[in-house]
Amino acid sequence: MDRIVITGGKPLRGRVKIGGAKNASLAVLCASILSRETIVLDNIPNISDVRVLIEIINSMGARATWENIDTLKIIPSELVNVEAPYHLVKKLRASNLLLGPVLARFGRAQIAMPGGCNIGVRPMDLHFKGLAGLGAELSTERGYVSGRVPGRLKGARIYLDFPSVGATENIMMAACLAVGQTLIENSAKEPEVVDLANFLNSIGARVRGAGTDVIKIDGMPNLEVGCRYSIIPDRIEAGTFMVAAAATGGDVTLENLIPVHLEPLSAKLREANVDVFEGEDTLRVKAERMLRPIDIKTMPYPGFPTDMQSQLMAMLSTTPGTSMIIENIFENRFMVANELKRMGARIKVEGRMAVIEGVPALHGAQVKATDLRSGAALIVAGLMATGETEIFNAVYIDRGYHNLEEKLGSLGATLWRK
Ligand code: UD1
Repeated sequence: MDRIVITGGKPLRGRVKIGGAKNASLAVLCASILSRETIVLDNIPNISDVRVLIEIINSMGARATWENIDTLKIIPSELVNVEAPYHLVKKLRASNLLLGPVLARFGRAQIAMPGGCNIGVRPMDLHFKGLAGLGAELSTERGYVSGRVPGRLKGARIYLDFPSVGATENIMMAACLAVGQTLIENSAKEPEVVDLANFLNSIGARVRGAGTDVIKIDGMPNLEVGCRYSIIPDRIEAGTFMVAAAATGGDVTLENLIPVHLEPLSAKLREANVDVFEGEDTLRVKAERMLRPIDIKTMPYPGFPTDMQSQLMAMLSTTPGTSMIIENIFENRFMVANELKRMGARIKVEGRMAVIEGVPALHGAQVKATDLRSGAALIVAGLMATGETEIFNAVYIDRGYHNLEEKLGSLGATLWRK
């Protein structure tokens, strides 16, 4: 059942509820092992990335179990194993976020390196620089990062050369158990970083300034507070539905989201002649008029998110005129262009730039997802196209979208698994 088949050409209409944020859930799950008390997390999406991370922390001795469809209970008190093995880590890059918390709690860690992935080499030098700045001694051998901390981690001033989401999160988590104060300068400002900081504070940490360029953490000897915490909504899942609504000339209201997190995308959709109406925790996307071409540059938050770039490329492939996308975050994120071309798109890729000449229509074809968001883009393309589109490697899509077929089906799309 690793294929999704779509009969396209229907505008999406209706209401859809957005689930919890994948990237915030992964970071918070890693952070939960800093605590010694029971933690209950609400709004956790039951997607394969989350399930793999649960398997990893359970293999380390934690006890994480689903209480209901999106509530997870974690008992981290019996965590004993400081090793995250390769056969699990290779399935999930974000398991590199265990390095900071494991080092901070146990003074040593052995985490398999996840390696590169289809969207780029994804180095970890900034993670290492930050953790070494806190006093960890790190070495890499046979594909594993080994770390030890002589005594305890010590608060320090860490400047990030680039506001990396993962490095900010790893350093922030480790600093919570360091002696003294840590400053992370040029830190990432993504909403998921803020969510992680809020969670850390709710288990007794002292983190201030998340969402700005400088995060200040006052280390504590232990984190002994249990908590119940609800994860923020997934802005990328929401964004994918917004683009799918716009690309099919539909009218969709998204519920349970934080509109300000979507502002970079809403602004671009409005520029493309789409109506976007904001409610308190809803957004309505209505596309009645002919779309206009736009230019996009991906940037760290609050710039345009790299995770929405591929879906927009699908939409722009039938937008009259010439659009341009510049990808500034990951060097290899245009692979979906070749798949869209199989459906009739006209896209030229030159290094980090893609130029898209709008064609009158896409036609259904057999295509393959190469990563999570390219898979989402092919879903958008399939919904727009005439005829039948068969998307191979749907397993990538399952990494980040819960109940995608059901949700799209409820908006009037025709699609099924094969
Ligand atoms: C996170 C998100 C991912 C999103 C990305 C950018 C998770 C689980 N994943 O990934 O969905 O696309 O943010 O918003 O939250 N870099 C270095 N050295 C490092 C770390 C990063 O050079 O040590 C570079 C990367 O190669 C990339 C850029 O920094 O070019 C951004 O990466 P980063 O913000 O770290 O992304 P992730 O945390 O991996």
